[in-house]
Amino acid sequence: MFSKRTNWQLAPNRLTWAVEELLAAGVPLLDLTASNPTRVGLEYDAETILGALGSANPTLAAKGAARMGHPVLDYDPQAKGLLGAREAVAEYYRADHHRSESGVDVDAERIVLTTSTSEGYSFVFRLLCNAGDELLVPKPSYPLFEFLADLQDVKLAPYPLIYDHGWQMDFHSLERTAAERTRGVVVVHPNNPTGSYVKEREREQLNAFCRERGLAVVVDEVFLDYGMNCAQENTGSLQRLGRDDSARKMQLHESFAGNNEVLTFTLSGLSKIAALPQMKVAWVVTSGPEKVVREAMARLEVIADTYLSMNAPVQWAVPILLEQRKSIQRQLLERVRANLSELDRQLAGQKACERLEVEGGWYAVLRVPVTRSDEELAIELVREKHVLVHPGHFYDFAGDGYLVVSLIGEEREFGEGMGRVLETFGP
Ligand SMILES: Cc1ncc(COP(=O)(O)O)c(C=O)c1O
Repeated sequence: MFSKRTNWQLAPNRLTWAVEELLAAGVPLLDLTASNPTRVGLEYDAETILGALGSANPTLAAKGAARMGHPVLDYDPQAKGLLGAREAVAEYYRADHHRSESGVDVDAERIVLTTSTSEGYSFVFRLLCNAGDELLVPKPSYPLFEFLADLQDVKLAPYPLIYDHGWQMDFHSLERTAAERTRGVVVVHPNNPTGSYVKEREREQLNAFCRERGLAVVVDEVFLDYGMNCAQENTGSLQRLGRDDSARKMQLHESFAGNNEVLTFTLSGLSKIAALPQMKVAWVVTSGPEKVVREAMARLEVIADTYLSMNAPVQWAVPILLEQRKSIQRQLLERVRANLSELDRQLAGQKACERLEVEGGWYAVLRVPVTRSDEELAIELVREKHVLVHPGHFYDFAGDGYLVVSLIGEEREFGEGMGRVLETFGP
């Protein structure tokens, strides 16, 4: 009765079973996988956020007065999303100087709003691929790719990221993996969970690789702003540090939204940028050579028009919600840095485990002794130590010996949980 594409293995995995058993028995667990920012004790400006969705939004109030009615009561179907919201997204790329000295100039007409990055992926996969066509995706990386690809009848061909004093893209593998039906290369900048950014040299190689083969680049930048070396206060920090500060320049992580070398789709959204996943606001920025961008936009617009999925109140709220990122990113960067330094403090007291380099994002990867599979290890940790971690295989690590922990959890829970994980391996 059902489509083959939905023939997923739906039974809970053994780790989920173990967690559910303990929770049912009332055992408190320390959760080192917490990645829902709304539940880790951050301080949100509730009044402003709620006001943005209603009559306390100054833009809405002004428009309402002009029209003798409330704009939210008006249905103004715009395929790419309301212009005011798209302009706020364009301003985000222009204003955040930590990416490049001048920011990235993005035309609001090249932005399509979506309700999630997942929806953005779906639009782009639909635009680029016939059923059975292929996309190259990094490995290890974001576990949802598999499902997104299944749903769009797209095949994934993984290309490995290699760790050697830091993560790198393996261009030899990329070359070997590209085939006749390959339509594009997906990069996650910085990647989840490795936290690695695409370096300037890699970006050049990637552009050359895609140009030669007529491939598009699809870039997931949801964690772009969470660079470990970014200044606490993103906006304006570069001016204060001085434009000739060369050390500082090395820390910039430029968005692909201004990549004009090849057809490029840059995906991001409020779920991570402003830590507001419940608002369901994301976007796709299209860049590249003019002619192909025009054609891509015309087609993307029809795809978006077919769904018109984002609701009006949240679109009107986008400028204010995006503004919230400044306070939230400061808190999250502080949290991530504090947890990372606690992790390093604890790692310094033992020899069995180490962490891999973290350039950005919300996660750390631990290299641990391989005495059993990562799944067995995670199950043992939850049963015996009551700590929940992600085994590396969730993210398709090439072998065993990797655990992934979230760095955005509350500091006390993180510190205690890490202590229990490390004591498992002895001094
Ligand atoms: C790499 C990456 N992209 C996208 C998302 C989800 O974004 P959205 O909530 O906008 O679909 C996540 C969530 O964890 C992620 O890790």
